[in-house]
Amino acid sequence: MTLATVTPPWAYTLQLPQDPRGPGIARSTLRTVLRVHGLRDLIDTAELLASELVTNAYRHSSGPYSLRLRGAGRNRVRVGVWDSSPEIPEPFCGGAVGTPCALSERGRGLLLVRECAASWGAYPIRGGLPGQGGKVLWVERTAPHHP
Ligand SMILES: Nc1ncnc2c1ncn2[C@@H]1O[C@H](COP(=O)(O)OP(=O)(O)O)[C@@H](O)[C@H]1O
Ligand SMILES: [Mg+2]
Repeated sequence: MTLATVTPPWAYTLQLPQDPRGPGIARSTLRTVLRVHGLRDLIDTAELLASELVTNAYRHSSGPYSLRLRGAGRNRVRVGVWDSSPEIPEPFCGGAVGTPCALSERGRGLLLVRECAASWGAYPIRGGLPGQGGKVLWVERTAPHHP
């Protein structure tokens, strides 16, 4: 079997520390994975989506967090971000959300993520051991010319 014939499902998990270099490492890892899997058309938008989610995990939780990338069909990727905070932010709780205050300097990232994602969701992770608990926020994105 040649590399070119490898088809989904493929998946990668990157464990990230509570360190300001984490989001950048997550972005460059995502670029490498999507390029090697022939999903170049997805790279820029998937990087934006992952960047928002991992930066939130870094800023709004206090422990380690992780990025999971998975092929979700021939031209589709799922980006999941786990962190140890059990709180699911409002834009990912489902339903409509209001637009942020015009003068607010925060609260736009997740609205943008929802807009750019083909689908999105969140679920709690149960368990009391280190590395368990918290929640996963996920999004999927399909390459634009492959609806
Ligand atoms: N991973 C997370 N864990 C807990 N709370 C979060 C997480 N991500 C976002 N939030 C909450 O949702 C709010 C909105 O997030 P976002 O739209 O990315 O705006 P910002 O990060 O600029 O505050 C955050 O201010 C924070 O209170
Ligand atoms: Mg944010």
